[in-house]
Amino acid sequence: MKKFQIINGPNLNKLGTREPEIYGSLTLKDIEKYTQDKCDSSKVDLQWFQSNIEGEIVEQIHKVMDSDIDVLIINPAAYSHTSIAIYDALKMLDKPIVEVHISNVYAREDFRQTMLTAKAASTIMSGLGRDSYYVAISSQLID
Ligand code: DQA
Repeated sequence: MKKFQIINGPNLNKLGTREPEIYGSLTLKDIEKYTQDKCDSSKVDLQWFQSNIEGEIVEQIHKVMDSDIDVLIINPAAYSHTSIAIYDALKMLDKPIVEVHISNVYAREDFRQTMLTAKAASTIMSGLGRDSYYVAISSQLID
């Protein structure tokens, strides 16, 4: 059994109504359920956290450091492009980190081409839509 902390950053609590042509029509709760249902629950334990506040995300990463979580999956959302604080917190974490983006950030605006936090991740994936979290989790279960 692998334990995953999944952190979602700002505005992801608005999935479902937020730019559905980019992010799809599922809410964050729907994505959590969709992901949980696709995963083998005897193999993974998924713990979800969302915050719109940079410092709360930093503190949640600190909690992962001192916990029995095996893998961190993080979608820092807009903070991916700006947050040295989240980057520094991720650099301290000695566990696999998968950075996830629902949309393909490389096909979007220029300001999204600065990928700051991704430099601290072991793996990144971008553009898999509703399957983003499931694929990120599955990537950590390859023997
Ligand atoms: C996002 C991409 C970011 O550029 C954006 O600010 C988000 C969501 C994604 O999941 O595609 O809020 O991280």
